[in-house]
Amino acid sequence: MSGSIQVRGLSRTFHTTVRRPGFAGALKSLVKPERVAKEAVCDVTFEVAPGELLALLGPNGAGKSTTIKMLTGILTPTSGEARVAGVVPYRERERNARNIGAVFGQRTQLWWDLPVRESFAILRDIYGVPEREHRVRLGEFDELLALSSFWDTRVRHLSLGQRVRCDLAAALLHDPPVVFLDEPTIGMDVVVKEQVRGFLKHQVEERGRTVLLTTHDMTEVERLAERVVLINHGRLVLDGTLDEIRRRFGSTWQVRATLADPQAAIAPPPGIALLRREGPQVVFGPDGPGAPTVHQALKQVVERYEVTDLAIDEADLEDVMRAAYVQAEAA
Ligand SMILES: Nc1ncnc2c1ncn2[C@@H]1O[C@H](COP(=O)(O)OP(=O)(O)O)[C@@H](O)[C@H]1O
Ligand SMILES: [Mg+2]
Repeated sequence: MSGSIQVRGLSRTFHTTVRRPGFAGALKSLVKPERVAKEAVCDVTFEVAPGELLALLGPNGAGKSTTIKMLTGILTPTSGEARVAGVVPYRERERNARNIGAVFGQRTQLWWDLPVRESFAILRDIYGVPEREHRVRLGEFDELLALSSFWDTRVRHLSLGQRVRCDLAAALLHDPPVVFLDEPTIGMDVVVKEQVRGFLKHQVEERGRTVLLTTHDMTEVERLAERVVLINHGRLVLDGTLDEIRRRFGSTWQVRATLADPQAAIAPPPGIALLRREGPQVVFGPDGPGAPTVHQALKQVVERYEVTDLAIDEADLEDVMRAAYVQAEAA
């Protein structure tokens, strides 16, 4: 079975009742509750290919968790449809559960009062994983996530980093082709984050798992994702590879060239502006919306001038994403 994720026009509206302020308001709310509709996810379409890691990005409240809840079968969409490894998750929740693993960084799926290892054993029985297979897999997870020093500890006594590492292992014990990770590294220190990223990379590249990841950490996106989907106010605003997105929105580079001839006259190529001249050093930047990428600019500068040294200052992904949001908001 292929581990693809297909999402077509997926929407979810929440209806909540608002409380009116004051005693009279409360009374009125009782008699005639005021209902408001919130479109948490609205007409979202995207696909994740088998063995691909896709980062689902967006500000708080954008609809990321709601999307993941529909794909894990926890929530039913208001309209549209989704398929995960060929299964409609909210229609066949149990069948879907066999194909997926899920980690929600904010809460654990493990039994709070049990030692981790017992939680693993319960999951093994639920999914009917043969004992030998279970041991081999735990061994592999231990190697990558260093779990064994605390897997006899009760879950409630684990640190956040330890708990999420255990949650990751627990989610993958039944060897699912598709994995959903909702802010798995939130609140972790840098060292543990790096360990978790290494683990995820291994799961995608060596095990061929399909991963849908939400995160606010752009370093993580850069390390793990080739493609991102950006949502805002429940709507998809962007779907592309990191390269494409950089090309479209990442036009805030600077190139600093040291000229062999400090007196040389500078007439920059089209799309490139001369920002500063500091002795033998000249600094170029993009000129207008049709500016070349930093790589194209480098090539043109080297072709046009005799340079003895070059330095690039590229926009980081955080800047690029900010530019993408701003343009999406304006559109
Ligand atoms: N169970 C719910 N009832 C009402 N509103 C909800 C519920 N779950 C989420 N929402 C609203 O839907 C929007 C999207 O939420 P969520 O999917 O959690 O966003 P994200 O994960 O991107 O931060 C928010 O405005 C949130 O308040
Ligand atoms: Mg969320």
